[in-house]
Formats: sequence, structure tokens, C-alpha cells
Amino acid sequence: PTNHFRVDGSSSLWRVDCRAKGGSPGFKVAIFGAAGGIGQPLALLMKMNPLVSVLHLYDVVNTPGVTADISHMDTGAVVRGFLGQQQLEDALTGMDLVIIPAGVPRKPGMTRDDLFNINAGIVKTLCEGIAKCCPKAIVNLISNPVNSTVPIAAEVFKKAGTYDPRRLLGVTMLDVVRANTFVAEVLGLDPREVNVPVVGGHAGVTILPLLSQVKPPCSFTQEETEYLTSRIQNGGTEVVEAKAGAGSATLSMAYAAVKFADASLRGLRGDAGVIECAFVSSQVTELPFFASRVRLGRNGVEEIYPLGPLNEYERVGLEKAKKELAGSIDKGVAFIRK
Ligand code: NAD
Ligand code: LMR
Repeated sequence: PTNHFRVDGSSSLWRVDCRAKGGSPGFKVAIFGAAGGIGQPLALLMKMNPLVSVLHLYDVVNTPGVTADISHMDTGAVVRGFLGQQQLEDALTGMDLVIIPAGVPRKPGMTRDDLFNINAGIVKTLCEGIAKCCPKAIVNLISNPVNSTVPIAAEVFKKAGTYDPRRLLGVTMLDVVRANTFVAEVLGLDPREVNVPVVGGHAGVTILPLLSQVKPPCSFTQEETEYLTSRIQNGGTEVVEAKAGAGSATLSMAYAAVKFADASLRGLRGDAGVIECAFVSSQVTELPFFASRVRLGRNGVEEIYPLGPLNEYERVGLEKAKKELAGSIDKGVAFIRK
């Protein structure tokens, strides 16, 4: 028989759908862009997450193959695939968490903002679907340029009357993952012992690592500070150049996305003390959106922490970051309002 797999994951032969419907413990999670460079390893890792009971994989291409493949893993989550615009609403209905890595990646010589023209429209369409089908879902937005796509999503939700700023999070986790790795290298520590807050946004100088607040407490020479700040700010470009035209970070991003999604789900479950950095609606600065440490809970972002004491190097970096961020945020807002 060739019919084991159907794109919508249904079969009258299987009791698995009863398990999915019967409220087995866990959350319903959808990945949009699931057949892509990030989407595939992200789907693999989310299928392994015990907090996930149902996993929806949506893309405009290749979801039947990816879904068939992932669905053979003997882990708890029930996997269903959705292909193309006409299945968008089914893919979204009932979801608790929607993760969006849909859109084109950079090639060498491009900035993240060069992706705006294509990715802005993709994010707009997907967010219109979310507003209609699962307005209470937590959204983890990965598509670049994050500094503009998050304001775009917010405007779409406002227009639809469903905007809850606590539920919309731009994923900047990869900056933290990189910062932990690079700082651990310099300090000669295990990266798992290191925690570096990274604030601002997710592009070039808007990525602002707060090296004065690294845990465990430590100090850096000026040379180390400059090297680490530059390496963290250019981590994405380092991968884009190494891949030489074959795309941008996908594997480390899938790892970071799962780390962040898992934190979002632990927050939804009601766990205490779930704190990560994310690009969110914020009053930490005069800008309407800013990345900083946030506490995640049953409603998404429950608390946003202030930046804390900055040294002179970080204060200068903050001013540069805010200047660029303001333009990227305005560009996203204007895309919907115009
Ligand atoms: P990719 O091209 O490998 O995959 C993107 C996927 O999106 C493709 O499968 C494509 O078919 C799909 N897609 C396109 N239009 C769609 C639509 N309308 N609906 C659903 N899916 C659609 O790219 P990638 O390497 O996976 O990167 C995806 C995005 O993530 C890029 O914008 C990239 O810049 C961004 N990114 C962000 C971070 C971050 O830290 N936030 C890190 C890495 C990459
Ligand atoms: C990253 O930081 O790796 C992503 O934003 C992808 C990119 O274009 O650099």
C-alpha cells in the first residue's frame, strides 16, 4: 500500500487521531516554514519535546515528505502536515504555539534588511491567518528582519483586533546562544555554565551583548570586549559567508528556536522563573519594541526586566542600537499602515 501517509495526517484506520483529540497532556505546536533549512531540524527537535502533544508542519512546498519522515519517530507528539495556502487555516486552528521560520535567508553581501521585501509579505499573510484561527496562540517569530517583522505582526494583529503584546515574541535566542559559546571560549568555561544577556534587536549593531552582566561574574579586557561584541554582532554573517551562498544559520538556529519554544511552553505550563531574552513590545527604552530579558508565563511575556547597570562601552552601543532599531521598527509599521 502506498497510502500510509496523508498530508492532513488522517486515516480511519488509526486511533492516533483519537489520542490527539482526546487531550493527551501537552501543547499543540505549529511550525510555519517547516520544510526549510531551519524548519526541518526544528521539526525534528520539537517532535522530541515531551511538552508537545500535536505538531503541525506547514509549508508551501515539500511538507508531505518532511511530515512522513518526522512522523516515523517513536516519540509522543502526533505529527500532521499541511501544504499551501488552502491548508493554512487547518494548520493553525487550535494551536497553542506557532513558530515561524518561513521566508528567504541571506546570501553573502546581503543585510537582513535586504530580505524585507519578500519576507514582510510572507509574515503578513501568516499573521492574518493566526489572527483568524488561533488569536490566543503564542507566536515565536524567527523570519528576518526580526527588527521589522515583529512590528509587522503587531500591526496585523492590531488591525484584526486580536493584538496581545504579551503573546508576540521575536526570537533573538541565537544571539544569546552564540554569546554564551564565544564568551565561554574566551573564559575557558563550559558554555552551559555561561549566561550572557543580549539586548536591543537582531541585526548588526542592534545586537548588544551586556558583557558586564555575564554570569558567572567575570571581567574582560577592552580587547576582549571589542572582540566578543563584534563576533556576537556578526555571528550570522560569519555563517552566511562560510555557507557561501547556500543560506544562513539553520542548525544552530533550530537549536536556539527549540530552546526558546521549550521556554515558551514551560511558561504556558505555569513553571516559575522561566527567563529568556526576546524582542518584544517594551517600555524598557523609548522604542516601542526592544529585546531584553523577559519572564515567560501562562500568557506569554509576564514581566520585562530593565537593562540594569551598563558600562560606558555598553551605553555607547545602546545609543547606536536604538538609532538603527528605530528605523527598522518604523519600516515594519509603515508596511502595514501605508
Ligand atoms: P529556507 O529558505 O531554507 O526555508 C524557508 C522556508 O520557508 C522554505 O521551506 C519555504 O518554502 C518556506 N516558505 C516560503 N514562503 C512561505 C509561506 N508563505 N508560508 C510558509 N512557508 C513559506 O530558509 P531558512 O534558512 O530556514 O531561514 C528562514 C528565515 O529565518 C529567513 O528569513 C532567515 O533570515 C531567518 N533566520 C532568522 C534567525 C533568527 O535568529 N531570528 C536565524 C536564522 C535565520
Ligand atoms: C542569524 O543571525 O544567523 C540569522 O539572523 C540569519 C542571518 O541572516 O544572519
